[in-house]
Amino acid sequence: MPTTAARPTTPPAAQTLLHLDASARRSSFSREVGDAVAGAWRSSHPDGTYLHRDLALTPVPQIGEAWTELCDYVLEHQITDIARYPEAVRTPAQADAWAVVEPLLGELVAADVVLIAAPMYNFSVPASLKAWIDQVTFPKMSLAGRRFVVAYARGGAYGPGTPRQPYDHQERYLRDFFPGHFAVPEEDMTFLGTELVNSLVDPALAARREAHDASRTAALAAARTVGASL
Ligand SMILES: Cc1cc2nc3c(=O)[nH]c(=O)nc-3n(C[C@H](O)[C@H](O)[C@H](O)COP(=O)(O)O)c2cc1C
Repeated sequence: MPTTAARPTTPPAAQTLLHLDASARRSSFSREVGDAVAGAWRSSHPDGTYLHRDLALTPVPQIGEAWTELCDYVLEHQITDIARYPEAVRTPAQADAWAVVEPLLGELVAADVVLIAAPMYNFSVPASLKAWIDQVTFPKMSLAGRRFVVAYARGGAYGPGTPRQPYDHQERYLRDFFPGHFAVPEEDMTFLGTELVNSLVDPALAARREAHDASRTAALAAARTVGASL
């Protein structure tokens, strides 16, 4: 009886996870959910490369005029290949601007999975995260093929049907931005997070603590599942 030879299998290429934190707090709910995703991912990808950048602890500068000159050059010359962006550097000030962008963009382009832990600040994302987005975003730049996970936290409740839903410029902004600018399909984005965090400190929201606990428990369970499945 002939035996069937086992097919040679190609091991999956090692993956890279870029994990961004943006909470000003060390003990933070967005960090907690993001860490749960990252922990599960690292357990299931022992050969993977894990890159972590804490945008609150080590902020990236806001873009300046020289950055806008790089951006305009890329647009004017219709440069869509990121490897060609250095062609835009023509002055010492632009070289300084590019020296800030290059490592940030290098990490982003190297990533198979981009995990963003984002608190809600004033209905939106923290300035530290927005500064990073501004630095790494160039015209007509595609990040298709990468998966994005957003681990959010917020003081109130902004889910579908809540009175505050129209004020959500945190999750909504990120849901719009990555598909809208970077051509990331919606199915390659996952959002999970903890709501009603302010119930822990605001006496007026004390009655919502159980709802907060439930939201946190569900987010952490989802984070472990998502992290292991990426
Ligand atoms: C500067 C600042 C602004 C905030 N603005 C809002 C807000 O507009 N809406 C809201 O629901 N919660 C707001 N919060 C509460 C935070 O979203 C909440 O504490 C959340 O847990 C922060 O994420 P973190 O735990 O990861 O730090 C704000 C908190 C801070 C510190």
